[in-house]
Amino acid sequence: MKNITMIAAIGPNNELGKDNKLLWDLPEDLKFFRQQTMGKPIIMGKRTLDSLPRLLPGRLHLVLTHQELEPNDQIKVFRDVDSLLEFVETLGQEVMVIGGAQVYKQMLDLSDKMLLTEVEAHAEADVFFPTFDKNDWDCTELCRHEEGDIKYKHLVYTRKK
Ligand SMILES: NC(=O)c1ccc[n+]([C@@H]2O[C@H](COP(=O)([O-])OP(=O)(O)OC[C@H]3O[C@@H](n4cnc5c(N)ncnc54)[C@H](OP(=O)(O)O)[C@@H]3O)[C@@H](O)[C@H]2O)c1
Repeated sequence: MKNITMIAAIGPNNELGKDNKLLWDLPEDLKFFRQQTMGKPIIMGKRTLDSLPRLLPGRLHLVLTHQELEPNDQIKVFRDVDSLLEFVETLGQEVMVIGGAQVYKQMLDLSDKMLLTEVEAHAEADVFFPTFDKNDWDCTELCRHEEGDIKYKHLVYTRKK
C-alpha cells in the first residue's frame, strides 16, 4: 500500500455530484476537508479540477488527464494511473484522493483509508462513489453534524489487513 487516502462526501445511494458540481453546501464539511488535506498532495480527475473555484492553497494538485494543461507550480499532470503511482511512491507521504467518480473508482483498490462524509439526504446525481464491501474495512465514526436541515457524519474506514 502507498499511503493513499480517499476523501469524499456521499449520499445514501453513494451520490457524489451533478453537472460537475457538489450536491450539498456544508461549510463545516468543507472545513473538515481543508483540515484533512492541508499540506498533502491531492489526486483528482480533470473534471474535479475544473469544478474547483480556484486551486486549493497549500496542496500540490496531482491531476489525471489526457489533456495538456498550462504549466503551474501547484499542478502536476499524469496521463495514466501507473505514472501517478510511480510519482506518489517517491513522495513518501500520505496523499489524498479528492475525486471525482472516475478517479475514486480507479483508486479504490489502491487505497488503505477512506474519510467519508455520509450525508443523510438524497439528491439527484449523475456521478456516484463506487460501491465497496464494508466487510473489508474497519469503520470508526468521528462525529455527527447538522447544518441547516442536513444531518451527516464523518467516518474513517481503514482497510482490514
Ligand atoms: N462529493 C464529493 O466528495 C466529490 C468530490 C470530488 C468531485 N465530486 C463531483 O464529482 C464530479 C466529477 O467527477 P467525474 O467522475 O465526472 O470526473 P473526474 O473523476 O473528476 O475526472 C474525470 C477526468 O479525469 C481524467 N482521467 C480519469 N482517469 C484518468 C486516467 N486513468 N488517465 C488519464 N486521465 C484520466 C479524464 O480527463 P480528460 O478527459 O481531460 O482526459 C476524465 O475525463 C463532479 O460533479 C464533482 O462535483 C464530488
